[in-house]
Amino acid sequence: MNIVILGPGAIGALWAVKLRQAGHRVSVWARQADREYPVSLDGLLPVNFQNHTDEDIRQADLIFVTVKSWQIVAALDSVSKLLQPETMLLLMHNGMGVTEELGIYLETHPCLIATTSHGALKQESRTFPVQVSHTGKGETWIGAANQAGQHCTFMTDVLNHAFAPVYWHHNMTQAQWQKLAVNCVINPLTAINQCVNGQLASSEFTRQISALITEISRVMNAEGLTTDTGQLKKRIYQVIENTGENYSSMYQDIFRRRTTEIDYITGYLLKVAEKHQIAIPEHEKVYHQIKHIEMKGKQDE
Ligand code: PAF
Repeated sequence: MNIVILGPGAIGALWAVKLRQAGHRVSVWARQADREYPVSLDGLLPVNFQNHTDEDIRQADLIFVTVKSWQIVAALDSVSKLLQPETMLLLMHNGMGVTEELGIYLETHPCLIATTSHGALKQESRTFPVQVSHTGKGETWIGAANQAGQHCTFMTDVLNHAFAPVYWHHNMTQAQWQKLAVNCVINPLTAINQCVNGQLASSEFTRQISALITEISRVMNAEGLTTDTGQLKKRIYQVIENTGENYSSMYQDIFRRRTTEIDYITGYLLKVAEKHQIAIPEHEKVYHQIKHIEMKGKQDE
């Protein structure tokens, strides 16, 4: 397949290498204008990708979008004139609420959404090759975001062949909420406390994590999703353990004074809670803490 990774950050670059190794014709569309984009995964010999070539977008069977949630629509707009109607769009990102912003793309392209629990870290350096590490083994779920996307179940096999395990989900909303719950706990807490994910297993966070999970369960139940607070807690602590050494994406954004995905994570939860008139004070508190740190970071620059 002809695949373009739109936004080869940590996760995007990881998938770029895996898809190339599986035999696909993969190129990238990065922020930098350099014609080549070499990526070294886990310190191995760099794999070279063609970058920023209009023809790659025109010929793409799949645009794999791995920019941050708040950058997705702008990233798609930047290549929209080159996109062919049959090209599939696959969005892999943290948080929820992006599908509602896709507008015209939902009418013109088969759209898929994906969520992954793989951990990846990209070294913040402007020199090539880009250094990426696969820091935590996970799994990937994909599903349709529109009617045309429902005819793309074959993508499960394509992606599974490149980077297993990948599963098709008939109801991505359920899968996205499960991931949202994980991100609503791990991301703001690690960013506020500037710690690795594993630190959240310590007793100093038990009460706060419990309260956050109880609040999420209430909102999920109001949305008509089957939720078991005990199961949710087990799952979140499992991710904390599996990615214990990782610095969450929000930790990294705060550390590097970048805009975080808080509006698509806790911000999304707050909107849904408001719709159901459910008070979620613990999430409200961490939301404002992150917003404050984010703003301060930008002012100090
Ligand atoms: O955003 C992240 O960092 C990841 O989604 C996760 C699963 C919290 C692991 O760090």
